[in-house]
Amino acid sequence: MDNFVYDIPTKVFFGRGQLAALANLVPQYGKKAMLVYGGGSIKRNGIYGNICMLLEQAGISHVDLSGVEPNPSLDTVNRGIAICRREQADVIVAVGGGSSIDCAKAVAVGTCYDGDPWDFVVDPSRMKAALPVIAVVTIAATGSEMDHIAVITNNRTQEKIGTRSQVMRPRAAILDPTFTFTVPAYQTACGTADIMSHVLESYFSNTEAFLQDRAAEALLKTCIEFGPRALTNPENYEARANLMWAASWAINDFLKVGKSVQWSVHPIEHQLSAVYNITHGAGLAILTPHWMEYVLNDRTVHKFARLAVNVWLVPELSDEYAMAREGIARLKTFLKELGLQERLSELQIDETHFQEMAIKAAAQLKGSYVPLNAENIKKIYQASL
Ligand code: NZQ
Ligand code: ZN
Repeated sequence: MDNFVYDIPTKVFFGRGQLAALANLVPQYGKKAMLVYGGGSIKRNGIYGNICMLLEQAGISHVDLSGVEPNPSLDTVNRGIAICRREQADVIVAVGGGSSIDCAKAVAVGTCYDGDPWDFVVDPSRMKAALPVIAVVTIAATGSEMDHIAVITNNRTQEKIGTRSQVMRPRAAILDPTFTFTVPAYQTACGTADIMSHVLESYFSNTEAFLQDRAAEALLKTCIEFGPRALTNPENYEARANLMWAASWAINDFLKVGKSVQWSVHPIEHQLSAVYNITHGAGLAILTPHWMEYVLNDRTVHKFARLAVNVWLVPELSDEYAMAREGIARLKTFLKELGLQERLSELQIDETHFQEMAIKAAAQLKGSYVPLNAENIKKIYQASL
């Protein structure tokens, strides 16, 4: 295991009723909050009203950045920065999923940054300071509430980039599984696929770490157990709670410390959601099995066989390739049974942009588990059509 520093300052409030913690948390950072949220789900399910009431009781005024779109855009980030500056907000409360939280993180940095926010998305070393961010999570998926990543889309250049800086990591996260009861089936499935992908991205690295890899397998089994249950019964608290906590742990650095990790499937997917604006988890669900098939070789087969046995309960065989392929087949079946698409063509995607997307993805894959150039990535897109 390589040396590492593990330092996650996000304070987590988990469980029913934990929203009340906002009344103490927000005043620690000032008197005015900016609420950042999406297209309105939090108004329909009552979370917004409860937050407004809590803030009012705590003597906190607020301004809103509403309408953050899935795959948040640079334009929305700029809109948020303008509001934040004009209204002199002291703290940002993101309420929603990865889109709202990522947008809030970028606004938090952009408010303290003199220049075009795209500059620090492209070059994270430019991020020196940020307003404090508190995340109230409403969907189990990205784990943005405990990580230092923001994924922002520049619609002018059709680029979607995941940028990283410790200054963006939320100071606190409120995780009430009941907030996810209203997540529609398709988004629940996409979220589950996203969590599994985050785990797999760290699992498949060229450095072994026994503890982290067994923990990764446990997180995958949690998704396999509770994803379908949440779909069958959206108000199953245990299912929603396990998915929610798995989402945070899939990406809060624990799985990747001590290992040399460079994600593969995410940079390949981000090109799809940048150009076609598809749901991130849906793209991952299609690409992941094809990526696995493409990178399966004599060097990687042992790891794929271990995954098959430990997670998919494939019987031990003398032929590791057979075990590995059976594991990939079971993953495909699982994702299909969640209701996710198997082919890019089902999302109205064709070959038109494969070449340019493959070039952009390849530029972000240096040091990946199996090196992939633009031609290799194009083949993965084509296999996924
Ligand atoms: O916008 P509203 O009306 O809130 O509806 C949202 C949205 O339509 C809905 N939703 C969320 N909570 C709900 C709910 N509907 C009913 N009840 C609730 N409780 O779900 C839809 C999707 O929301 P979104 O925030 O877009 O989903 P997700 O959490 O999957 O975030 C996706 C974004 O995060 C990025 C993705 O690329 C994408 O842009 N990622 C962020 C990462 C990070 N920060 O670490 C890593 C990921 O790999 C990912 O790239
Ligand atoms: Zn993801």
